[in-house]
Amino acid sequence: MGAHKKGSNNGSYLYDPLLLEGLDWSSARNLMSPNITSTDPGEEWLCVRPLQITDHNKGFLTLLAQLTTVGNVSQHDFERQYWLMQRSGAYYVTVIEDTRSQTIIGAATLVTELKFIHNASIRGRLEDVVVNNTYRGKQLGKLIVLTVTLLAKKLGCYKMSLDCKDNLIPFYKSIGYKIEAGNSNSMIIRYETAPS
Ligand SMILES: CC(C)(COP(=O)(O)OP(=O)(O)OC[C@H]1O[C@@H](n2cnc3c(N)ncnc32)[C@H](O)[C@@H]1OP(=O)(O)O)[C@@H](O)C(=O)NCCC(=O)NCCS
Repeated sequence: MGAHKKGSNNGSYLYDPLLLEGLDWSSARNLMSPNITSTDPGEEWLCVRPLQITDHNKGFLTLLAQLTTVGNVSQHDFERQYWLMQRSGAYYVTVIEDTRSQTIIGAATLVTELKFIHNASIRGRLEDVVVNNTYRGKQLGKLIVLTVTLLAKKLGCYKMSLDCKDNLIPFYKSIGYKIEAGNSNSMIIRYETAPS
């Protein structure tokens, strides 16, 4: 059964759910045991799919709060951001729903960036990876990250990169991410307030 047919279908998806159906999981075959995929996540009640606008009511922001500060994001704020993301076409926010409780229990985002370089190519960035703490250690982290990583490949990205804390390096290495010698520094400027 296809990912988009499972779970509660509330009509609108952030991106086309059919994109998750044709992912080539062959390269991930030895990375998980048992082998689960986005279309066959191992339990009937698990559903891997694009974000939906109704996920605000399914604990999506509560889940993100296990990753970092979310702040006061009203339904209106959420919906505005959702439509902006959908209109841009660059955001592939992907979630895992526990359909028994209709709760979002995992998430990861692929952000695509259009380039002039490399023959006008496209690169992927992995963002906002989180699994609900009561569901961790069951390969769902690997599953959601691999899902968006394979999606990046399918969309034609020439590379996919991420920033992470030191303690998560083994996690990302276990699913194929590498530290490239001389090319893996992450630098930052933080602004106290976001521009309006
Ligand atoms: C990181 C995270 C998504 C992993 O989710 P998960 O569902 O527990 O991951 P998996 O079950 O797929 O674990 C895969 C492997 O990574 C390891 N791992 C998971 N979290 C780890 C951590 N915080 N530190 C070190 N190793 C970790 C697991 O031990 C497991 O190893 P194994 O396959 O050899 O047993 C989850 O711990 C989380 O949401 N953390 C809080 C948010 C966060 O830090 N996100 C990442 C931002 S870059």
